[in-house]
Amino acid sequence: MSVSDFDLISAWKRVLRLSRLQPGQVVTILTGADTHPQTLRCAITACADIGARLNRLDLLPVNGEKSLSRDSLAYLGTTPLTDNPAAIAALKASDLVLDLMTLLFSPEQHEILAGGTKILLAVEPPEVLVRLTPTEEDRVRVCAASEMIKSAREMRVTSAAGTDLRATLGDFPAIREYGFVDEPGRWDHWPSGFVLTWPNEGQSNGRIVLDRGDILLPMKEYVTDPIELTIRDGFVRRIEGGLQADILKEYMASYEDPEAYAVSHLGWGLQPRASWAMLGQYNKETHIGMDARAFEGNFLWSMGPNNEAGGSRTTACHIDIPMRHCTVELDGTATVIDGVVQDATGLAHAARRKVLGA
Ligand SMILES: [Fe+2]
Repeated sequence: MSVSDFDLISAWKRVLRLSRLQPGQVVTILTGADTHPQTLRCAITACADIGARLNRLDLLPVNGEKSLSRDSLAYLGTTPLTDNPAAIAALKASDLVLDLMTLLFSPEQHEILAGGTKILLAVEPPEVLVRLTPTEEDRVRVCAASEMIKSAREMRVTSAAGTDLRATLGDFPAIREYGFVDEPGRWDHWPSGFVLTWPNEGQSNGRIVLDRGDILLPMKEYVTDPIELTIRDGFVRRIEGGLQADILKEYMASYEDPEAYAVSHLGWGLQPRASWAMLGQYNKETHIGMDARAFEGNFLWSMGPNNEAGGSRTTACHIDIPMRHCTVELDGTATVIDGVVQDATGLAHAARRKVLGA
């Protein structure tokens, strides 16, 4: 169902206030071929209402002819900012960039953030943005989880389906995604609500067994038959299973890049308003799957680049895989047990679901 402009403008204003937007600050709204018109016009109204000075920068799409998917996260690498100093200068001169286009995993983005500009990505459909409008409570919960990652040296992930992965941590930062940008130089994504980090290069080993109901992105498919991935020295070396495993292998092979198979970010979802079931209700081309990445208690791992965290891997291929019913341990302490986040909020939600029989 649609949401009204009033509802979306109200949501934008909450997010902009959480992002500490002040009257007179310069906001540049970055738009592209797939920008949702309601999201754009409501962002403009909300920014104007707060008294910001507003620009709009519309950039042409790139990489469409190379990708097998229309998903904006399906082909990384170059962006419309690559070799585009005029656009970079406009964004660097802004206090806040509202990215309604999807600028991600690019050195240009790092350059813009390094100057203190904040960037907030918001490309999910309007009703998803309203449902998943971030809160201060989201930030507190995500930050608490990231503190646990920060001090950890090993992540172990297990599941009844057969997953048993060990990853050494410590070389890359813990990233907190809570949906707004309250500090200079901060990037975030509305909607989100999860923590993640990257394993040290070459230091993840074991196997991951995707069970029925786990999710493949950007395919936006629920796994129906188990897929087993064998991981050695930081790379997925073997992918076995049925039709979905074959599609995954063929899709990844199309990038012709061995780096595509590197284990990328690892973390877990903390957003109780995000839904595992959402993916079954939407046309694939209308969204990028943030409900799937953020739903509470999922173990989210990926294959592909680590340049977002300061690493050198820049492969264009990126596969995100949210999994249910996993147990995540940091140095032997469980942060998630069988898909239940081990904090007060997570335990309360699990108890409520049990009462409801869900
Ligand atoms: Fe990812």
